[in-house]
Amino acid sequence: MAKMTSWQSVARVDEVQEGLPIEVTVSGIGICLLRAGDEFFAIDNLCTHAEASLCEGAQEGRILECPRHGGRFNIETGAAVHYPAFAPVRTYPVRREEDTLWVQVD
Ligand code: FES
Repeated sequence: MAKMTSWQSVARVDEVQEGLPIEVTVSGIGICLLRAGDEFFAIDNLCTHAEASLCEGAQEGRILECPRHGGRFNIETGAAVHYPAFAPVRTYPVRREEDTLWVQVD
C-alpha cells in the first residue's frame, strides 16, 4: 500500500518571526517552526542529544542552538553542526499559501 502523506495548516505567516520559532503539533509530533528571511522550516522540536525543546533555543539565520547544552542544528538540512549534538534532527517540508503555513508529515 502506498504511504500516505498529509499537509496540515499549522500557523499564519505573521506568527513566525525570524529568531522567534514556535512549537506546533502535527499528527502528535512536536514540531518547531522557524523563519529565516522569507523562508520557513520545520524540524522536530525534541533535541537529538537529550530532552530539550529546540524551539526555546537561539536562532541565527539557518542555525538553531539547543538551549540545554548548546548543540547546534542546521534548520534546513537538520544536520547537527556543533557538539554535543551528533545525530541530525528530522526536518519536514513547509509550504506557504498566501498567509498560511502548511507542514507535511507522513
Ligand atoms: S539537549 Fe540539546 S544539546 Fe543537549
